Amino acid sequence: MTVGVRPPAARPGGSGLARERMREWLARRRAVEAMGGPERVARQHAAGKLTARERLERLFDPGTFEELGAFVRPRGDHPGLRPETAPAEGVVTGFGRIDGRTVYAYAQDFTVLGGSLGEMHAAKILRIQDLALAAGAPIVGLNDSGGARIQEGVDALNGYGQIFRRNTLASGVVPQLTVVMGPSAGGAVYSPGLTDFIIMVRGTGQMFITGPQVIRAVTGEAVDAEELGGADAHLRKSGVAHLVAASDAEALDLTRRLLGYLPSNHLEAPPVADSADPLDRQEPGLDELVPDEPNRPYDVLEVIRAVVDRDSFLEIQAGYADNLVIGLARIGGRPLGVVANQPRVLAGTLDINASDKLARFVRFLDAFNLPVLTLVDTPGYLPGTAQEFGGIIRHGAKVLYAYAEATVPKVTVILRKAYGGAYLAMCSRSLGADAVYAWPSAELAVMGPEGAVNIIHRRALAEAEDPERLRQQKVEEYRRTFANPYVAAGRGYIDAVIRPSETRPRVARVLMALYNKREDRPRKKHGNIPL
Ligand code: HXC
Repeated sequence: MTVGVRPPAARPGGSGLARERMREWLARRRAVEAMGGPERVARQHAAGKLTARERLERLFDPGTFEELGAFVRPRGDHPGLRPETAPAEGVVTGFGRIDGRTVYAYAQDFTVLGGSLGEMHAAKILRIQDLALAAGAPIVGLNDSGGARIQEGVDALNGYGQIFRRNTLASGVVPQLTVVMGPSAGGAVYSPGLTDFIIMVRGTGQMFITGPQVIRAVTGEAVDAEELGGADAHLRKSGVAHLVAASDAEALDLTRRLLGYLPSNHLEAPPVADSADPLDRQEPGLDELVPDEPNRPYDVLEVIRAVVDRDSFLEIQAGYADNLVIGLARIGGRPLGVVANQPRVLAGTLDINASDKLARFVRFLDAFNLPVLTLVDTPGYLPGTAQEFGGIIRHGAKVLYAYAEATVPKVTVILRKAYGGAYLAMCSRSLGADAVYAWPSAELAVMGPEGAVNIIHRRALAEAEDPERLRQQKVEEYRRTFANPYVAAGRGYIDAVIRPSETRPRVARVLMALYNKREDRPRKKHGNIPL
């Protein structure tokens, strides 16, 4: 399978020199298209992986990929490295169209020197990064590499360093996506780590700073590569991966889908899709969703699916910090981000991992002009020494920072609990929400009724003949007085108390009214988000 320039039929009657040149060009082009040769390509296929060009063909709209730098090769002055062993320098680079929009991409080819990154391999990636930045187009990296090319030593390291710098300069300017489709070891993982989204292929994509052998030598731990750095390790344990796919083809389809929610750069509005889902669709099931018992869980995904356009929700980082759900969706065809506490996991509390997940996502949404819809049902930050010693103050502060900093439209719906610091953190009016709606089941208070009663009635409870009865009476009293949406609505912290079944039309209307929102921030070099 080939991509890019195809040889035109040689013109009969051309000069001998012209024919000679054409033959040379064809031979060079064939070498470049053969990459590591049939044996290594067969090995790549046997491992369940596509080659770089096959991947690019799948990623881009058919026939739109334009290859650049196909004849780039190593300089030839690194000992032990013959330039002819590195067709296309082990990386295919160029641009093309995805759903009609320009995207730049590079794809490392493991069949050429293990996809290892040398000086000129890096130069090809740098050129793509520079072009994408200048053109205001997203960059997709398809990574499959043994890392820094050993024979090129410090020149390879310099290549990585320059790529990291470009990743940082492009951050917040154009979307950067990495698909990890093979090994990614050592410092090589930091280019993916600097990009907005990492998609990993289960079974073949692996990322780690130090591999199993080094770990065994240094710490004595025995772990295999998949367990250490495979897709599930990074989706569920480290939180490094955002999406996981079962195959190369699925990962590339997912990449196309993800790009469909994103603008090409920070100056553009996100692309609007056709939507057959009526904006005034009501969901009667939502009126019954929240259980009467305040501690009974329900699945917030049901609320999300009821509110956004049918089948438009793409959950991100599902499997990591599941007490908080994040994802991209559309309402009326317009993309937005959804953030929601999940009462089914850890009662929807905010902990360190959920805070990091939330803050990074909200900052991404803000950078790329995607409105934020926040669905709140949280009893607060998760208590415990593990959280305190782990720095929940610092991590929890990221949530406040990200929401307060964001200038995109921010719409919040309080479904049930919104207590204390977590109430403020989950995009409250105080942090700058543009619209805050609440369901009748909402409870806004400094803390939950049980905790509050134990503190403010401690003495009376200690002296009571029947403390349990008194506690229940006081809890009821507290609930009636404080734990409802009307005190907050009376102060204007809530704009409307709405019927749950009407959430979609109400959110759609307020978002529509906010699409042209503009908000300024004090001028500065950059803020200092607590990291
Ligand atoms: C040069 C490399 C290479 C490398 C692989 N190859 N990695 N060549 N530099 N870094 C070559 C192999 O020699 C082999 O060539 C071919 O690629 C395929 O490799 P195999 O080992 O046969 O493949 P496999 O068994 O699938 O193992 C893949 C692998 C292993 C797990 C990636 O090759 C490996 O451990 N490589 C080294 C990984 C590593 O430690 N890299 C440095 C990381 S540090 P032939 O000719 O035999 O086909 C790093 C620092 C970045 O990257 C720093 C940034 C700041």
